[in-house]
Amino acid sequence: MLHSGGELQRVLLLGMGQKKPNRNQLAKMGKVAATQVQKTSAADAMFLAGGMALDKKDREWFFLPLAKELPYQAYRYTKTLSKPKATCRLKRFSVSLGSGSDLKAVKAALNRGGEVGNGINFARELANLPANICTPDYLSKQAKALARRSPKASCKVLNEKAMYDLGMHSLLSVTAGTETPAKLIVLEYQGGKKGDAPHALVGKGITFDSGGISLKPGAKMDEMKFDMGGAASVLGAMHAVISMKLPLNVVMVIAAAENMPSGTATKPGDVVTAMNGTTIEILNTDAEGRLVLCDALTYVERFKPASVIDAATLTGACIVALGSQASGLYANNDMLADALLAAGEESNDRAWRMPLWDEYKRQLNSNFADLANIGGPGAGSVTAACFLSHFANAYPWAHLDIAGSAWHSSPKGATGRPVGLLTQYLVSCSEDS
Ligand code: BES
Ligand code: MN
Ligand code: ZN
Repeated sequence: MLHSGGELQRVLLLGMGQKKPNRNQLAKMGKVAATQVQKTSAADAMFLAGGMALDKKDREWFFLPLAKELPYQAYRYTKTLSKPKATCRLKRFSVSLGSGSDLKAVKAALNRGGEVGNGINFARELANLPANICTPDYLSKQAKALARRSPKASCKVLNEKAMYDLGMHSLLSVTAGTETPAKLIVLEYQGGKKGDAPHALVGKGITFDSGGISLKPGAKMDEMKFDMGGAASVLGAMHAVISMKLPLNVVMVIAAAENMPSGTATKPGDVVTAMNGTTIEILNTDAEGRLVLCDALTYVERFKPASVIDAATLTGACIVALGSQASGLYANNDMLADALLAAGEESNDRAWRMPLWDEYKRQLNSNFADLANIGGPGAGSVTAACFLSHFANAYPWAHLDIAGSAWHSSPKGATGRPVGLLTQYLVSCSEDS
């Protein structure tokens, strides 16, 4: 029997099966409900949940994915279209609960899901923007605007001179060939107790990756505008954290630069000194993500972070290994790795752990420097992560290679991953503390 208190023009029935659904099935059903409603022309929808026999955790597992999916399905890229696309019709979505149900838990799940969905869309929009709009400076303005949304947030942007003074010559070697200035973007959010160690998110923000002097082939080179997907995802996660007012300290650092060839560009064989003193032989200027990230990883040491997670569209080899289903996860700490794997399962934004063995690290030996920036043909995603691990000794650290998960090629567009995973991880950290 259906009760609504008003007139119903259309009824969508959601079958829950006979057995008690598990977490995955609940999430899938929440998503299906949201997707199907968005497919109709309805402007106003009500979900009648009175008949659902779900306990407290089940409600979260159903309503959070549902609320996350509503904004996800509503997103349209329009920024550079002269004629606007048809927008999504749905304006209002309400939930009617039966008596005796836990209103507070459902409200919390709906709010949190909505904010995660908004954070995901924020990341998608930034990643979808072309590189002539979304420059390092544009990203820094987005971070500053985000900081203005909360009195607990503040943003600082380092220019190339400031990076030079810090000795970030690895990061600066990547920007040497372009006229577009690089930025190191630092966004701090103090939602937790003063003095509590923050969790750090570090994003690869290559706003366009031509490969530099090791120029990429022309086919699909346009997709290298998405090479700031890591930066977009850490901004998206900060967007969600700030909107949810999570009681946690978080610091975000983005290494933003454009990788271009020119007469002033870095050449294969050049040796540079990173901020921590390591010398690097740049054998391939297209392996630039690790060169900007290594200095950002040294920079975050100053925050004495409880954990550091970087997100980067780092290697084509990760797509060969894992396709688009899972982000590649690397970590120097098993507890952190397990927490991230669990957060990925919970948010349906999965990662799969990969090795960081010393045997792989040897592939980065160089005759002319402490490290080479490439490790030969085998295990390209692993050796890239090994390179980063060399700079992440001062804290529990994890790296997400999101080359396969951050965008689809047909139709082209950013997915907003791993905003869901990162946000879920930070939510679980805030619940533990
Ligand atoms: N941004 C690319 C990685 C990438 C390639 C992501 C294709 C998504 C799709 C990265 O900077 C890169 O060029 N990596 C090289 C590394 C190689 C030179 C060791 C790669 O994967 O080919
Ligand atoms: Mn590259
Ligand atoms: Zn790149």
